[in-house]
Amino acid sequence: MAILVTGGAGYIGSVAVEDLRKQNESVVVLDNLAYGHRQAIDSSVAFYEGDIGDESLVKAILSEHEIEACMHFSAFAYVGESVEKPKIYYKNNFVQTLKLLDVLIENDVKKFIFSSTCATYGEPQYVPIDEKHPQSPTSPYGWSKFMVERALADYDAAYNLKYVALRYFNACGASETCGEDHNPETHLIPLVLFAAQGKRDSISIFGDDYPTPDGTAIRDYIHISDLSQAHLLAFEYLRKGGDSEFVNLGNGSGYSVKEVVEAARKITGEKIEAKIAPRRAGDPSRLVADAKKAREVLGWNPQFPEIERIIESAWAWHSANPEGYE
Ligand SMILES: NC(=O)c1ccc[n+]([C@@H]2O[C@H](COP(=O)([O-])OP(=O)(O)OC[C@H]3O[C@@H](n4cnc5c(N)ncnc54)[C@H](O)[C@@H]3O)[C@@H](O)[C@H]2O)c1
Repeated sequence: MAILVTGGAGYIGSVAVEDLRKQNESVVVLDNLAYGHRQAIDSSVAFYEGDIGDESLVKAILSEHEIEACMHFSAFAYVGESVEKPKIYYKNNFVQTLKLLDVLIENDVKKFIFSSTCATYGEPQYVPIDEKHPQSPTSPYGWSKFMVERALADYDAAYNLKYVALRYFNACGASETCGEDHNPETHLIPLVLFAAQGKRDSISIFGDDYPTPDGTAIRDYIHISDLSQAHLLAFEYLRKGGDSEFVNLGNGSGYSVKEVVEAARKITGEKIEAKIAPRRAGDPSRLVADAKKAREVLGWNPQFPEIERIIESAWAWHSANPEGYE
C-alpha cells in the first residue's frame, strides 16, 4: 500500500516524502510543479507531474498503485495574492481539492491528511489559539482552506471519509536535503537569510509599535521536520481507526520579528540591516498556537522548538544551496 502525496515537490511536502520513505512507506507524488521542484524529490520516488483536479490522471494513479491514504499539501499559499486573485485560490485550493476527494472516495481511499492553516482563524480573539477558537478568515486563502475543512466534515458524515486537518502556524527551517525555495519568497526567515547572504540589502520590520515586549509582531515558528512528523503520526492515527480531527501545529511559544533577526545575526555572523516600516494592514500583534491537542491526540512532540535551531537548519541549507534548487 502507498501514500499519495499531493504537492510533494513543495517545501513541506518534500520533507514528508523524505520522512515517509525513512519509515519504509511507499510514496507516490502528484505535483504540477507550479511552485514545486522536481529536484526536491528523489528520482526513485514515483512522481506524476500533473494537477490534482485532473480526474483521469488521479484515476490512473489509483489504478497503477494501491493507495491507502492521501497527504494533501498542494495549494497556492500567498495570502496577499489571494486578495488580488481570489478566483485562482478558490479554484486551486477548494474546487480542485473537491475533485481530488471525489476520485479518492469513489476508489475507496478514505484516509486524508490535509494541510490547513492558522489563517482559518482570522483575527485572534485570544491567544494562544486553540482549535475551538472561532474561525473567520481575513483572506480568500484562509477561506479557501476553511471551505475544504467544512467539506471534510460533511464528507465524513456522508461518505465516512476520515481526515486529520492540520492547522499549521509558520512553517520554517530545513532538513539536510530539503529547504525553502519559494519564488517569490515572502516568509521572514528566508528573507532574513537572503539579507545575510547579500542577496538583498536589508530586511523590513513591519511595525515596531505593537503591544509586545519589543514592539514587533510575534509569530509561532515551527520546524518543517516537526510538521512532517505530525503528518506521519496523523497517518498512524487514522490507520489505527482514529476519528476525524482538526489539530493545530505550533510550538505554543512565539518569537518576535526582532528576536528572529537577532538570532539570525548570531548564527550567520552577518550584520543584517533591519529597517522599520509601517505596519501591514491585517497583521495581528500575536499569533501563537495552543498545540496541546496535537500532543494528546497524535502523541506529537516537536524536536526543534528553539528559533536558533530552526534558523541554524535553514542557514545550513541556504548556504549549501545559495541558488535554491536551481
Ligand atoms: N508554508 C507555511 O508556512 C504554511 C502554513 C500553513 C499552511 N501551509 C499549507 O501547507 C501546504 C504546503 O505549503 P508549502 O509552503 O510547502 O507550499 P509550496 O508552494 O512549497 O508547495 C505546494 C506544492 O503544491 C503544488 N501544487 C499547487 N497547486 C497544485 C495543483 N493544483 N495540482 C498539483 N500540485 C499543485 C506546487 O507546485 C507545490 O509544489 C499548502 O497547502 C499551504 O497552504 C503552509
